[in-house]
Amino acid sequence: MEKMKAAVIGTGSISPNHLRNYVNSPYTELYALCDLNRERALARAAEFGVPEERVFTDKDEMFRTLPELELVSVCTWNSAHAECSIAALNAGCNVLCEKPMAINAAQALEMQAAAEKNGKLLMIGFVRRHEENMKVLQDCVRAGFFGDIYYAKATYLRRNGHPGGWFGDKSRSGGGPLIDLGVHVIDFVRYLKGNPKTVSVYGATYQKLFDRANIKSAKGYIAARDNSQDKPPVDVEDLVTALIRFDDGSTLSVEASFSLNGETKGGIELFGTKAGANLADDGLHLYSEMNDRLVNIDHADVKGQDFDQMFRDEVYHFIDCVQNGTECIAPAEDGVELMRILDAVYESARTGHEVVL
Ligand SMILES: NC(=O)c1ccc[n+]([C@@H]2O[C@H](COP(=O)([O-])OP(=O)(O)OC[C@H]3O[C@@H](n4cnc5c(N)ncnc54)[C@H](O)[C@@H]3O)[C@@H](O)[C@H]2O)c1
Repeated sequence: MEKMKAAVIGTGSISPNHLRNYVNSPYTELYALCDLNRERALARAAEFGVPEERVFTDKDEMFRTLPELELVSVCTWNSAHAECSIAALNAGCNVLCEKPMAINAAQALEMQAAAEKNGKLLMIGFVRRHEENMKVLQDCVRAGFFGDIYYAKATYLRRNGHPGGWFGDKSRSGGGPLIDLGVHVIDFVRYLKGNPKTVSVYGATYQKLFDRANIKSAKGYIAARDNSQDKPPVDVEDLVTALIRFDDGSTLSVEASFSLNGETKGGIELFGTKAGANLADDGLHLYSEMNDRLVNIDHADVKGQDFDQMFRDEVYHFIDCVQNGTECIAPAEDGVELMRILDAVYESARTGHEVVL
Protein backbone atom coordinates (compact mmCIF):
# COMPACT_ATOMS: atom_id res chain seq x y z
CA MET A 1 0.00 0.00 0.00
CA GLU A 2 1.25 3.47 -0.87
CA LYS A 3 2.28 5.56 2.10
CA MET A 4 0.24 8.65 2.95
CA LYS A 5 2.15 11.87 2.34
CA ALA A 6 2.47 14.15 5.37
CA ALA A 7 3.50 17.77 5.78
CA VAL A 8 4.25 19.80 8.89
CA ILE A 9 3.57 23.55 9.01
CA GLY A 10 5.67 25.29 11.68
CA THR A 11 9.06 23.67 12.26
CA GLY A 12 9.91 25.10 15.68
CA SER A 13 10.44 23.44 19.05
CA ILE A 14 7.43 21.09 19.16
CA SER A 15 7.65 19.99 15.52
CA PRO A 16 10.18 17.12 15.96
CA ASN A 17 7.52 15.27 17.97
CA HIS A 18 5.38 15.20 14.82
CA LEU A 19 8.18 14.92 12.27
CA ARG A 20 9.85 11.86 13.77
CA ASN A 21 6.57 9.95 13.98
CA TYR A 22 5.70 10.56 10.32
CA VAL A 23 9.20 9.28 9.51
CA ASN A 24 8.86 6.25 11.81
CA SER A 25 5.31 5.19 10.92
CA PRO A 26 5.23 2.44 8.28
CA TYR A 27 2.11 4.08 6.81
CA THR A 28 3.37 7.62 6.16
CA GLU A 29 6.09 9.49 4.34
CA LEU A 30 7.28 12.83 5.70
CA TYR A 31 6.91 14.67 2.41
CA ALA A 32 7.02 18.45 2.87
CA LEU A 33 7.73 21.20 5.38
CA CYS A 34 6.59 24.79 5.67
CA ASP A 35 7.75 27.59 7.95
CA LEU A 36 7.84 31.37 7.57
CA ASN A 37 11.46 31.02 8.63
CA ARG A 38 13.11 29.23 5.67
CA GLU A 39 16.38 28.55 7.47
CA ARG A 40 14.59 26.79 10.30
CA ALA A 41 12.57 24.70 7.85
CA LEU A 42 15.69 23.81 5.85
CA ALA A 43 17.50 22.69 9.01
CA ARG A 44 14.56 20.43 9.91
CA ALA A 45 14.45 19.14 6.33
CA ALA A 46 18.11 18.14 6.54
CA GLU A 47 17.52 16.52 9.95
CA PHE A 48 14.47 14.51 8.86
CA GLY A 49 15.32 13.77 5.22
CA VAL A 50 12.92 16.03 3.31
CA PRO A 51 14.28 17.24 -0.07
CA GLU A 52 14.87 20.99 -0.36
CA GLU A 53 12.41 21.36 -3.25
CA ARG A 54 9.61 20.37 -0.88
CA VAL A 55 10.42 23.07 1.70
CA PHE A 56 8.10 26.09 1.60
CA THR A 57 7.61 29.39 3.38
CA ASP A 58 4.04 29.84 2.10
CA LYS A 59 1.45 27.18 2.99
CA ASP A 60 -0.79 28.12 0.02
CA GLU A 61 2.08 27.59 -2.41
CA MET A 62 2.79 24.22 -0.75
CA PHE A 63 -0.82 23.08 -1.22
CA ARG A 64 -0.89 24.34 -4.85
CA THR A 65 2.39 22.57 -5.65
CA LEU A 66 1.67 19.31 -3.82
CA PRO A 67 -1.97 18.23 -4.29
CA GLU A 68 -0.89 14.71 -3.30
CA LEU A 69 -0.59 15.71 0.39
CA GLU A 70 -3.02 13.86 2.68
CA LEU A 71 -1.92 14.60 6.25
CA VAL A 72 -0.87 17.90 7.81
CA SER A 73 0.31 18.75 11.31
CA VAL A 74 -0.11 22.40 12.24
CA CYS A 75 2.64 23.38 14.71
CA THR A 76 2.71 27.15 14.24
CA TRP A 77 2.16 29.79 16.88
CA ASN A 78 -1.44 29.84 18.03
CA SER A 79 -2.78 32.70 15.90
CA ALA A 80 -1.88 30.81 12.71
CA HIS A 81 -3.59 27.54 13.68
CA ALA A 82 -6.92 28.55 12.12
CA GLU A 83 -5.62 29.89 8.78
CA CYS A 84 -3.20 26.96 8.32
CA SER A 85 -5.71 24.28 9.32
CA ILE A 86 -8.47 25.75 7.12
CA ALA A 87 -6.10 26.00 4.14
CA ALA A 88 -5.06 22.37 4.64
CA LEU A 89 -8.66 21.15 4.99
CA ASN A 90 -9.70 23.10 1.87
CA ALA A 91 -6.79 21.47 0.05
CA GLY A 92 -8.32 18.07 0.90
CA CYS A 93 -5.95 17.18 3.74
CA ASN A 94 -6.66 15.77 7.19
CA VAL A 95 -5.26 17.93 9.99
CA LEU A 96 -3.66 17.33 13.36
CA CYS A 97 -3.58 20.80 14.97
CA GLU A 98 -1.49 21.51 18.04
CA LYS A 99 -3.16 22.80 21.19
CA PRO A 100 -4.71 25.28 21.78
CA MET A 101 -7.02 24.75 18.82
CA ALA A 102 -7.04 28.51 18.05
CA ILE A 103 -6.89 31.85 19.84
CA ASN A 104 -10.65 31.99 20.40
CA ALA A 105 -13.84 29.96 19.95
CA ALA A 106 -14.93 31.89 16.85
CA GLN A 107 -11.81 30.74 14.98
CA ALA A 108 -12.23 27.22 16.33
CA LEU A 109 -15.79 27.06 14.97
CA GLU A 110 -14.56 28.16 11.52
CA MET A 111 -12.01 25.35 11.61
CA GLN A 112 -14.65 22.81 12.60
CA ALA A 113 -16.90 24.05 9.77
CA ALA A 114 -14.05 23.69 7.24
CA ALA A 115 -13.48 20.09 8.35
CA GLU A 116 -17.18 19.27 8.00
CA LYS A 117 -17.47 21.03 4.62
CA ASN A 118 -14.53 19.07 3.22
CA GLY A 119 -15.37 15.78 4.93
CA LYS A 120 -11.89 15.61 6.48
CA LEU A 121 -10.61 14.86 9.97
CA LEU A 122 -9.57 17.74 12.22
CA MET A 123 -7.90 16.29 15.32
CA ILE A 124 -6.65 18.48 18.18
CA GLY A 125 -3.26 17.81 19.78
CA PHE A 126 -4.51 17.23 23.31
CA VAL A 127 -1.43 15.14 23.96
CA ARG A 128 -2.26 14.34 27.59
CA ARG A 129 -5.23 12.30 26.40
CA HIS A 130 -2.57 9.82 25.27
CA GLU A 131 -0.75 9.67 28.63
CA GLU A 132 -0.52 6.31 30.43
CA ASN A 133 -1.81 7.94 33.63
CA MET A 134 -4.93 8.95 31.74
CA LYS A 135 -5.59 5.30 30.85
CA VAL A 136 -5.14 4.22 34.47
CA LEU A 137 -7.49 6.92 35.71
CA GLN A 138 -10.04 6.12 32.98
CA ASP A 139 -10.02 2.49 34.17
CA CYS A 140 -10.74 3.76 37.71
CA VAL A 141 -13.60 5.96 36.46
CA ARG A 142 -15.12 3.14 34.38
CA ALA A 143 -14.91 0.74 37.33
CA GLY A 144 -16.70 3.29 39.55
CA PHE A 145 -13.69 3.45 41.88
CA PHE A 146 -14.10 7.20 42.57
CA GLY A 147 -17.90 7.20 42.79
CA ASP A 148 -19.13 10.66 41.79
CA ILE A 149 -16.24 13.06 41.13
CA TYR A 150 -17.78 16.31 42.31
CA TYR A 151 -14.67 18.48 42.57
CA ALA A 152 -11.30 18.60 40.81
CA LYS A 153 -8.22 20.80 40.85
CA ALA A 154 -5.95 21.33 37.88
CA THR A 155 -2.63 23.02 38.58
CA TYR A 156 0.17 24.10 36.26
CA LEU A 157 2.29 26.64 38.10
CA ARG A 158 5.71 27.81 36.97
CA ARG A 159 7.70 30.02 39.29
CA ASN A 160 9.95 31.42 36.57
CA GLY A 161 8.92 29.81 33.32
CA HIS A 162 7.83 32.51 30.94
CA PRO A 163 8.51 31.11 27.46
CA GLY A 164 9.19 34.55 25.94
CA GLY A 165 8.95 35.37 22.23
CA TRP A 166 5.50 34.99 20.69
CA PHE A 167 4.15 33.24 23.83
CA GLY A 168 4.16 36.67 25.52
CA ASP A 169 2.65 38.45 22.52
CA LYS A 170 -1.13 38.25 22.80
CA SER A 171 -1.69 38.91 19.10
CA ARG A 172 0.06 35.61 18.30
CA SER A 173 -0.58 33.53 21.44
CA GLY A 174 -4.10 34.62 22.35
CA GLY A 175 -3.08 34.77 26.02
CA GLY A 176 -0.64 33.52 28.62
CA PRO A 177 -0.53 30.48 30.91
CA LEU A 178 -4.29 29.87 30.61
CA ILE A 179 -4.20 29.22 26.87
CA ASP A 180 -0.72 27.66 26.89
CA LEU A 181 -0.68 25.51 30.06
CA GLY A 182 -4.19 25.60 31.52
CA VAL A 183 -5.55 24.15 28.30
CA HIS A 184 -3.68 20.87 29.00
CA VAL A 185 -4.99 20.36 32.52
CA ILE A 186 -8.54 21.61 31.93
CA ASP A 187 -8.82 19.22 29.01
CA PHE A 188 -7.37 16.38 31.10
CA VAL A 189 -10.15 16.69 33.67
CA ARG A 190 -12.94 17.26 31.13
CA TYR A 191 -11.89 14.25 29.08
CA LEU A 192 -11.56 12.03 32.13
CA LYS A 193 -15.04 13.04 33.24
CA GLY A 194 -16.53 12.20 29.82
CA ASN A 195 -16.57 15.75 28.39
CA PRO A 196 -19.34 17.34 30.47
CA LYS A 197 -20.83 20.59 29.15
CA THR A 198 -19.70 23.81 30.82
CA VAL A 199 -22.39 25.80 32.62
CA SER A 200 -20.48 28.79 33.98
CA VAL A 201 -16.99 30.17 34.54
CA TYR A 202 -15.53 32.63 37.00
CA GLY A 203 -11.93 33.67 36.50
CA ALA A 204 -9.25 36.20 37.31
CA THR A 205 -5.97 36.94 35.59
CA TYR A 206 -2.99 38.91 36.87
CA GLN A 207 -0.04 40.51 35.17
CA LYS A 208 2.31 41.43 37.98
CA LEU A 209 5.70 39.81 37.34
CA PHE A 210 5.80 39.75 33.50
CA ASP A 211 8.62 37.59 32.08
CA ARG A 212 10.93 38.16 35.08
CA ALA A 213 13.78 39.11 32.76
CA ASN A 214 15.53 40.52 35.83
CA ILE A 215 16.03 37.07 37.39
CA LYS A 216 19.64 36.00 36.85
CA SER A 217 19.18 32.26 37.21
CA ALA A 218 16.92 29.73 35.51
CA LYS A 219 16.25 31.50 32.25
CA GLY A 220 15.96 28.12 30.59
CA TYR A 221 12.56 28.59 29.05
CA ILE A 222 13.46 31.79 27.27
CA ALA A 223 16.97 30.81 26.23
CA ALA A 224 15.89 27.41 24.92
CA ARG A 225 13.46 28.81 22.36
CA ASP A 226 14.45 29.31 18.74
CA ASN A 227 12.59 32.60 18.86
CA SER A 228 14.60 34.06 21.73
CA GLN A 229 15.67 36.93 19.46
CA ASP A 230 12.02 37.76 18.90
CA LYS A 231 11.19 40.02 21.86
CA PRO A 232 7.79 41.67 21.53
CA PRO A 233 6.33 43.47 24.56
CA VAL A 234 4.91 40.96 27.04
CA ASP A 235 1.16 41.63 27.14
CA VAL A 236 -0.30 38.36 28.46
CA GLU A 237 -1.28 37.39 32.01
CA ASP A 238 1.35 35.70 34.15
CA LEU A 239 -1.20 34.04 36.51
CA VAL A 240 -4.74 32.78 36.01
CA THR A 241 -7.16 31.29 38.49
CA ALA A 242 -10.64 30.07 37.56
CA LEU A 243 -13.60 28.04 38.76
CA ILE A 244 -15.46 26.11 36.06
CA ARG A 245 -18.89 24.62 36.74
CA PHE A 246 -20.10 21.66 34.63
CA ASP A 247 -23.62 20.44 33.87
CA ASP A 248 -23.13 17.36 36.09
CA GLY A 249 -22.93 19.74 39.07
CA SER A 250 -19.18 19.29 39.51
CA THR A 251 -16.64 22.10 39.64
CA LEU A 252 -13.04 22.40 38.48
CA SER A 253 -10.59 24.83 40.04
CA VAL A 254 -7.69 25.84 37.78
CA GLU A 255 -4.43 27.65 38.50
CA ALA A 256 -1.70 28.27 35.92
CA SER A 257 1.26 30.63 35.82
CA PHE A 258 4.35 31.58 33.84
CA SER A 259 5.77 33.59 36.78
CA LEU A 260 4.89 33.35 40.46
CA ASN A 261 6.42 33.87 43.87
CA GLY A 262 5.67 30.29 44.84
CA GLU A 263 6.54 26.72 44.09
CA THR A 264 6.73 25.32 40.55
CA LYS A 265 4.24 22.46 40.55
CA GLY A 266 1.67 20.70 38.45
CA GLY A 267 -0.97 18.11 39.02
CA ILE A 268 -4.50 16.88 38.77
CA GLU A 269 -6.51 16.28 41.93
CA LEU A 270 -9.84 14.46 41.87
CA PHE A 271 -12.29 14.31 44.74
CA GLY A 272 -15.01 11.67 44.53
CA THR A 273 -17.64 10.22 46.85
CA LYS A 274 -15.77 6.90 47.14
CA ALA A 275 -12.15 7.85 46.46
CA GLY A 276 -9.85 10.59 45.30
CA ALA A 277 -6.61 10.93 43.35
CA ASN A 278 -3.58 13.14 43.08
CA LEU A 279 -1.62 12.84 39.87
CA ALA A 280 1.54 14.67 40.88
CA ASP A 281 5.09 14.94 39.57
CA ASP A 282 6.10 11.87 41.61
CA GLY A 283 3.28 9.65 40.36
CA LEU A 284 -0.34 8.73 41.02
CA HIS A 285 -1.65 8.63 44.59
CA LEU A 286 -5.12 7.33 45.42
CA TYR A 287 -7.10 8.04 48.60
CA SER A 288 -10.01 5.95 49.82
CA GLU A 289 -11.59 4.07 52.72
CA MET A 290 -11.19 0.40 53.65
CA ASN A 291 -12.85 -1.37 56.60
CA ASP A 292 -13.92 2.01 57.98
CA ARG A 293 -10.35 3.30 57.88
CA LEU A 294 -8.67 5.83 55.60
CA VAL A 295 -6.17 4.31 53.18
CA ASN A 296 -3.63 5.71 50.74
CA ILE A 297 -2.77 3.70 47.65
CA ASP A 298 0.30 4.46 45.55
CA HIS A 299 -0.01 3.14 42.05
CA ALA A 300 3.01 0.90 41.58
CA ASP A 301 3.12 0.54 37.79
CA VAL A 302 2.42 4.11 36.76
CA LYS A 303 5.39 6.10 35.58
CA GLY A 304 5.70 9.84 35.06
CA GLN A 305 4.94 11.46 31.73
CA ASP A 306 6.71 9.91 28.75
CA PHE A 307 6.55 12.60 26.07
CA ASP A 308 7.96 10.38 23.32
CA GLN A 309 5.24 7.77 23.98
CA MET A 310 2.49 10.42 24.24
CA PHE A 311 3.35 12.11 20.94
CA ARG A 312 3.91 8.79 19.20
CA ASP A 313 0.49 7.57 20.30
CA GLU A 314 -1.07 10.89 19.30
CA VAL A 315 0.38 10.96 15.78
CA TYR A 316 -0.19 7.22 15.25
CA HIS A 317 -3.81 7.63 16.39
CA PHE A 318 -4.25 10.43 13.83
CA ILE A 319 -2.84 8.20 11.09
CA ASP A 320 -5.04 5.28 12.20
CA CYS A 321 -8.18 7.47 12.17
CA VAL A 322 -7.49 8.62 8.61
CA GLN A 323 -6.39 5.24 7.30
CA ASN A 324 -8.89 2.97 9.04
CA GLY A 325 -11.75 5.27 10.00
CA THR A 326 -11.08 4.68 13.71
CA GLU A 327 -13.08 7.05 15.89
CA CYS A 328 -10.93 10.04 16.87
CA ILE A 329 -10.47 10.52 20.63
CA ALA A 330 -9.66 14.24 20.26
CA PRO A 331 -12.14 15.63 17.72
CA ALA A 332 -12.61 19.29 16.75
CA GLU A 333 -15.77 19.63 18.85
CA ASP A 334 -13.73 19.08 22.04
CA GLY A 335 -11.29 21.77 20.92
CA VAL A 336 -14.20 24.16 20.32
CA GLU A 337 -15.62 23.49 23.80
CA LEU A 338 -12.20 24.11 25.37
CA MET A 339 -11.90 27.42 23.49
CA ARG A 340 -15.36 28.44 24.76
CA ILE A 341 -14.12 27.80 28.31
CA LEU A 342 -10.91 29.79 27.77
CA ASP A 343 -12.83 32.69 26.17
CA ALA A 344 -15.17 32.69 29.19
CA VAL A 345 -12.29 32.79 31.68
CA TYR A 346 -10.78 35.80 29.91
CA GLU A 347 -14.21 37.46 29.67
CA SER A 348 -14.87 36.88 33.37
CA ALA A 349 -11.42 38.23 34.26
CA ARG A 350 -12.10 41.33 32.16
CA THR A 351 -15.56 42.07 33.58
CA GLY A 352 -15.14 40.75 37.13
CA HIS A 353 -18.34 38.72 36.74
CA GLU A 354 -19.27 35.09 36.28
CA VAL A 355 -19.86 34.12 32.65
CA VAL A 356 -22.84 31.81 32.06
CA LEU A 357 -22.46 29.67 28.95
N1 LIG B 1 1.47 19.60 22.98
C1 LIG B 1 2.39 20.20 23.72
O1 LIG B 1 2.74 19.75 24.82
C2 LIG B 1 3.03 21.44 23.19
C3 LIG B 1 4.28 21.85 23.69
C4 LIG B 1 4.85 23.00 23.14
C5 LIG B 1 4.18 23.74 22.16
N2 LIG B 1 2.95 23.30 21.73
C6 LIG B 1 2.20 24.09 20.72
O2 LIG B 1 2.88 23.98 19.47
C7 LIG B 1 2.77 25.19 18.74
C8 LIG B 1 4.17 25.65 18.34
O3 LIG B 1 4.94 25.89 19.51
P1 LIG B 1 6.54 25.90 19.43
O4 LIG B 1 7.02 25.87 20.82
O5 LIG B 1 7.01 24.85 18.48
O6 LIG B 1 6.79 27.36 18.80
P2 LIG B 1 8.05 27.83 17.94
O7 LIG B 1 8.06 29.32 18.01
O8 LIG B 1 9.27 27.09 18.33
O9 LIG B 1 7.66 27.38 16.44
C9 LIG B 1 6.55 27.93 15.76
C10 LIG B 1 6.93 28.07 14.29
O10 LIG B 1 5.75 28.39 13.52
C11 LIG B 1 6.18 29.18 12.43
N3 LIG B 1 5.01 29.84 11.86
C12 LIG B 1 4.18 30.73 12.45
N4 LIG B 1 3.19 31.09 11.61
C13 LIG B 1 3.38 30.40 10.47
C14 LIG B 1 2.67 30.31 9.24
N5 LIG B 1 1.57 31.04 9.00
N6 LIG B 1 3.16 29.50 8.27
C15 LIG B 1 4.28 28.77 8.48
N7 LIG B 1 5.00 28.80 9.63
C16 LIG B 1 4.53 29.59 10.63
C17 LIG B 1 7.20 30.12 13.06
O11 LIG B 1 8.05 30.69 12.09
C18 LIG B 1 7.94 29.18 14.02
O12 LIG B 1 9.09 28.63 13.41
C19 LIG B 1 2.01 26.17 19.64
O13 LIG B 1 0.66 26.20 19.28
C20 LIG B 1 2.17 25.57 21.03
O14 LIG B 1 1.08 25.88 21.89
C21 LIG B 1 2.39 22.17 22.20
